[in-house]
Amino acid sequence: MVGVEKNMRYIGKIVENRKLCRDIFEMVIECPEIAQEAKPGQFLHIRVKAGIDPLLRRPISISRIYRDLGHISVVYQIIGKGTKEMTLLRKGEDIDVMGPLGNGFTLFPGKKCAVIGGGMGVAPLLELASKLSDCDAYIGFRCSTFKLDEYKSLCKELFIATEDGSTGSRGYVTDIIKDIGEYDIVYTCGPKLMMQKVKELCERSSVQCFVSIEERMGCGIGACLVCACRIKEGDAWHYKKACTDGPVFEAGEVDLYD
Ligand SMILES: Cc1cc2nc3c(=O)[nH]c(=O)nc-3n(C[C@H](O)[C@H](O)[C@H](O)COP(=O)(O)OP(=O)(O)OC[C@H]3O[C@@H](n4cnc5c(N)ncnc54)[C@H](O)[C@@H]3O)c2cc1C
Ligand code: FES
Repeated sequence: MVGVEKNMRYIGKIVENRKLCRDIFEMVIECPEIAQEAKPGQFLHIRVKAGIDPLLRRPISISRIYRDLGHISVVYQIIGKGTKEMTLLRKGEDIDVMGPLGNGFTLFPGKKCAVIGGGMGVAPLLELASKLSDCDAYIGFRCSTFKLDEYKSLCKELFIATEDGSTGSRGYVTDIIKDIGEYDIVYTCGPKLMMQKVKELCERSSVQCFVSIEERMGCGIGACLVCACRIKEGDAWHYKKACTDGPVFEAGEVDLYD
């Protein structure tokens, strides 16, 4: 039984929590309310353990939405205490999640799109790719890869780069983009340096580009200002909240060096 506790906070049930490769896991959660509402690019704020340690929830992007089943999935990498705790959760256990949070990606039907992801940024772009009718994917990893088959089935063309050359081309994902100018819209998620490079490529070819950024978060719902990020409006810079105004922004608005 999956129950609602209060607005946007739900007790979901873990359907699966499995290792994809190295230190990367995928968790599928039964939570029909979130599955019904969620859009690509939104995230969950996950209470990884009952009690006060760790106190803060962990923000993790929604990777896939299975509306018919009432399931959503997240792909996460072990970084510290919170994500390590997540790996210990088992099928059938309850999980306290807030979501779907954030703005998500804007879709432009009929446009030729590219999704460009690096590392863990590959995961949130999957659901987006599933919603785009004309989409190529460029994905990059250090060494271990994941979700290649899903990308192959969802995209027109898939280009892969690994830093050690074990799969696809050796090097960075930004090295394998031949002509960004063939796309109307580019969506990118991953390390800031990678997104900065994608942003520059898009600017040079006048291609509209959206970035999904990661900031440290407290509340996840716009109340604490922990996630403030520098955003350009006209010629002036302002601070916006990554949790509610983002995490997706037009590339030109965001200071990726912040
Ligand atoms: C909107 C959003 C979406 C994200 N999506 C994913 C995803 O799909 N998959 C994934 O593996 N990771 C994702 N992250 C990063 C993920 O939140 C952190 O890796 C995670 O919080 C680390 O927690 P920890 O306790 O294991 O690490 P610790 O380093 O012990 O965490 C200490 C504190 O720092 C925060 N923190 C540490 N690294 C980050 C980070 N990169 N971004 C934000 N907060 C951080 C933690 O939340 C915690 O409050 C996302 C972050 C944001 C903001
Ligand atoms: S995390 Fe609290 S305002 Fe964004």
